[in-house]
Amino acid sequence: MKIVHSIEEMRSRCRAAKTDEQRLGFVPTMGALHAGHLALVRAARAQCKTVAVSIFVNPTQFGPNEDFAKYPRTLERDQKLLEAEGVSLLFVPTVDEMYPPGASTFVTVEGLSDKLCGRTRLGHFRGVATVVSKLFHIIEPDIAYFGQKDAAQAAILRKMVRDLAFNIEIVVVPTVREADGLAMSSRNAYLNAIERKQALVLYRALCRVQTLADRGERDAGKLAEAAKEVLRDEPAVRLDYIEIVDQQTLDPVADISKGALVAVAAFVGSARLIDNIVL
Ligand code: PAJ
Repeated sequence: MKIVHSIEEMRSRCRAAKTDEQRLGFVPTMGALHAGHLALVRAARAQCKTVAVSIFVNPTQFGPNEDFAKYPRTLERDQKLLEAEGVSLLFVPTVDEMYPPGASTFVTVEGLSDKLCGRTRLGHFRGVATVVSKLFHIIEPDIAYFGQKDAAQAAILRKMVRDLAFNIEIVVVPTVREADGLAMSSRNAYLNAIERKQALVLYRALCRVQTLADRGERDAGKLAEAAKEVLRDEPAVRLDYIEIVDQQTLDPVADISKGALVAVAAFVGSARLIDNIVL
C-alpha cells in the first residue's frame, strides 16, 4: 500500500491505476477506522481492481464548538488495517494541502444541506460536499463508497454527483453494528461504560419503529411518538431529533406507505451519535 500526502502524486497514481478494464474504487474517511469503514473497503475490493482510501479529518465540516481537535486520530493502526484489506493507495493530506491559504470556494447542495443534521450542525454538509468534491477531482474514481449510517450525507452526495455531473457511481453500504446493535462509529470511542449502555437506546427506538411498521402502522407521527417514548427511558440521552423523512429529499413524510428513512441523532455524554433505519 502506497501512502501519499500530496495532491499531485495522488492524482498521477490514480490516473495510472485506471484503465478501460480496471476500475478504481474510492472510500473517503476521517480515520479511526472500525468494521463499518472496512465494510466499505471490502465492497470496493469486490468491485474494483484498485482501491484508494483517504484519511482526512476535514476541518470545514466541524462547527466551532464541535470535536475537530479531539477527534480520534489513529493513523498507524488505520494503516495496518487498510494494508490487510488489500488497499493500494492511502491518501493522507494535510489541512494546508486540501485548503491552500485563502481557499474560499465551497459546494452547497441547497435544499438538502439544512435538513436532519444540517439543521443543528450549521455548515456541516457544506464542508462534507466541498471536501468530497475535491477528493473526487483528485482521485477521479469510477465508484465511491459511503455508509448508510450517514444517510443524509449519502443523499446529499448522490444529489451533488448528479447536479455537478461527476462521472462517478455512488454505492451505499448497509450500517455495520456492534453485536448488541449499536451502530459502529469513530465517536463511540468517547463513551464511558455507562454511556455505552445508554447509547443503545437509539437502536432500541429504531427497532420499536420497525416493529410497529411491520405490524401495519403507517402514520409517521405515531411512529415518531413511539420512538420518543423509548428514548425517554434514558433521560441522560439528549435527543437532537428523530425524524421520518423521504430518503431522497429528506423532507418529512406523514405516511410511510411509500417507504421512509427514520433518522435519529442524540447526545450521549459528550458524543453526538446518529443512527437510522429504512422502512
Ligand atoms: P467517517 O465518519 O470516517 O465515515 C467514512 C465512511 O464510513 C462514511 O461513508 C460513513 O457513512 C461510513 N461509516 C461510518 N460508520 C459506519 C457503519 N457503522 N457502517 C457502515 N458505514 C459506516 O463520513 C465521513 O467520515 C466524512 O463525512 C467524509 C465522507 C469522509 C468527508 O469528510
